[in-house]
Amino acid sequence: MTLDVINAHAIGAICLADNLEILRSLPSESVDLIYIDPPFNTGKDQQRVQLKTVRSEDGDRVGFQGRRYQSIVLGSRRFSDVFDDYLAFLEPRLIEAHRVLAPHGSFYVHMDYREVHYCKVLLDAIFGRESFLNEIIWAYDYGGRPKNRWPPKHDNILLYVKNPAEYVFNVDEIERIPYMAPGLVGPEKAARGKLPTDTWWHTIVPTNGAEKTGYPTQKPLGILRRIVQASSRPGALVLDFFAGSGTTGIAALELGRRFILVDNNPEALAVIARRFDGVEGIVWVGFDPASVLGHGRD
Ligand SMILES: C[S@@+](CC[C@H](N)C(=O)[O-])C[C@H]1O[C@@H](n2cnc3c(N)ncnc32)[C@H](O)[C@@H]1O
Repeated sequence: MTLDVINAHAIGAICLADNLEILRSLPSESVDLIYIDPPFNTGKDQQRVQLKTVRSEDGDRVGFQGRRYQSIVLGSRRFSDVFDDYLAFLEPRLIEAHRVLAPHGSFYVHMDYREVHYCKVLLDAIFGRESFLNEIIWAYDYGGRPKNRWPPKHDNILLYVKNPAEYVFNVDEIERIPYMAPGLVGPEKAARGKLPTDTWWHTIVPTNGAEKTGYPTQKPLGILRRIVQASSRPGALVLDFFAGSGTTGIAALELGRRFILVDNNPEALAVIARRFDGVEGIVWVGFDPASVLGHGRD
């Protein structure tokens, strides 16, 4: 895909493809903002059991001079194998993301608390530690509460910039939020609200709300709006190469930014097609929205 598609005629391109293929086709330094929310299920599920043997009269193994040994299972390497595979999957995509990002561009990587530290080490190596700007905690309050630990109720969003000396951060555009104790700050400040910090309280996509698409990993539009508003200018090009239900594209469209969405799952593309039904000026790559919507497109 060339970017002419976006520059000349379109406000957005939506692609059914492996994201590595699309990333490799994009020119260097051509994208202003990237947000990704990669799935954590790409590693091969290998189970390698580690054993230790100890001397035992009723052991299950016989060794030197007929001595008997008992095997003890120490644990499995399954956990670390899955992470190795996951990082091997992500790394070439993160390298490409760094290449296509404009000199003033920002990169948001949405992660689960079980994987974020692995990814941060990788991103430090690719972007440089000085390019790390924030770790945003998205805190929500939904679902079960285990009784044997603090119930985990947050996601982590890492923010890296291409150039820490010059990047877009529209502090005055960011929607302000209410003070927790407005009585303590006076009526004028209370009316203006305050700037959000790196901890964002936001509900998950409401189960019965209009925003719900049915795509299982859909992220709230409010989170993406805040990212797009803060870290890109109107007319900028926003890329999400793990697009899922297309939330990033909706935020970009609402805020007057152009966008590229990529997902390799036809079910995701079907959801995106329904979400963008009636929007003109979109280029579809590898997918015909009419196959889902049942009517033609322009
Ligand atoms: C966690 S979901 C993203 C959800 C999205 N943020 C939303 O709000 O709906 C991750 C997506 O990555 C897609 N994906 C996984 N591997 C991919 C690949 N190699 N190329 C393109 N998309 C991929 C999956 O199909 C899935 O839809």
